Amino acid sequence: MAERVIPIVDQRKGALPAVVPAGAATPLGAQLIDAHQRPLRDLRISVTDRCNFRCSYCMPKDVFNKDYPYLPHSALLSFEEITRLARQFLRLGVHKIRLTGGEPLLRKHIERLIAQLADLRTLDGKVPDLTLTTNGSLLARKAQALRDAGLSRVTVSLDSLDDAIFRGMNDMDFPVAEVLSGIEAAQKAGLKHIKVNMVVKRGTNDHEILPMARHFRGSGITLRFIEYMDVGSTNGWRMDEVLPSDDVIRLLQSEFPLVPLAASSQGETARRWGYADASGKHDPSQGEVGVISSVTHAFCGDCNRARLSTEGQLYLCLFAEQGYDLRTLLRGTASDDELAAAIANIWQGRRDRYSELRASLPPDSGEHTKRRVEMSYIGG
Ligand code: GTP
Ligand code: 5AD
Ligand code: SF4
Ligand code: SF4
Repeated sequence: MAERVIPIVDQRKGALPAVVPAGAATPLGAQLIDAHQRPLRDLRISVTDRCNFRCSYCMPKDVFNKDYPYLPHSALLSFEEITRLARQFLRLGVHKIRLTGGEPLLRKHIERLIAQLADLRTLDGKVPDLTLTTNGSLLARKAQALRDAGLSRVTVSLDSLDDAIFRGMNDMDFPVAEVLSGIEAAQKAGLKHIKVNMVVKRGTNDHEILPMARHFRGSGITLRFIEYMDVGSTNGWRMDEVLPSDDVIRLLQSEFPLVPLAASSQGETARRWGYADASGKHDPSQGEVGVISSVTHAFCGDCNRARLSTEGQLYLCLFAEQGYDLRTLLRGTASDDELAAAIANIWQGRRDRYSELRASLPPDSGEHTKRRVEMSYIGG
């Protein structure tokens, strides 16, 4: 592989767009839509920018080393600050809250935050769908406490069942068996709708697609194959390492009959396929798989996700270069109404749709290597 030199830059520094002050016309309590008519439904909160893995597609070791400027503890939003912000997002129509990282289970006492969030209610008085994305390394120890605190479900990242490949992909020599016991512990603890996300890199783990499908078929766990994305600016992304999801589905169909399933909610990232029985109908006991095809079938059209970084910057797209500084508002004199109105104003002006535009970007436009925010900072 050609040597690549990646400058260490901290994209978090630099001028952040000022938060628009509260506007009188903000539709508090009504469905909020952005400039492309997309509602705000899903809030992803990053609780740490650190991780104990070094997956090369996310936190390559040559960049995320001991010299990397991770956030100091004082920059992090406290659990009280996160909860106060989450409450405002729920007032604006959010239904689902996902905790991410880095690795969210590295944040001390995360179960206390979960308990606080589980006490909040959506606009229609329901408990928010509260979930978490984890690499599974600490799940065996923490699953029960997470469930007891009110977590509804969990998504585990797992790129291979082959121990040598898994150890290589996490680049920390972490054994796959521990993640598998984490998944088992999550099932035992009563976490529902567990999903496993596998980032597929052509030439690295694509031969693990069928073994992963065989392993999880009929287990009650939904396996999803994610196209390797050009997120951030450090992973050295190349299109020839992307295996298009259509190829993944064709490969799966060579062994298992699959039928397409309807989306389970509006704005869902994955396209779903059910394992079929002998009559060609979906057999729910065998479960389903999903493909998340940000590169070859962009799903920006109904993207309803907002992302809150570890230090309280609001990002409107995974591929954004800058966020909006909610922490300054939070730590200033803004009332809850003013906070909610500022968030509403930001969402109403949202035009982001990077993945849709990506296809028409010339490969040498520089767009693929811009100083975009890292996924370890705003979360998956
Ligand atoms: P569920 O509610 O459990 O289905 O979650 P989800 O569909 O939101 O999926 P999840 O949070 O597990 O995200 C899976 C992966 O999809 C992420 O790790 C990203 O790789 C990718 N992804 C999620 N949201 C976006 C998005 O808004 N844009 C792009 N381009 N990719 C996304
Ligand atoms: N491409 C696709 N997904 C990624 N993730 C991180 N980096 C990438 C990338 N370059 C996602 C994976 C992982 C989650 C934590 O973030 O889904 O499971
Ligand atoms: Fe950590 Fe997840 Fe990123 Fe891997 S993909 S380095 S486990 S945050
Ligand atoms: Fe949403 Fe941006 Fe992802 Fe498109 S690329 S789906 S706008 S986060």
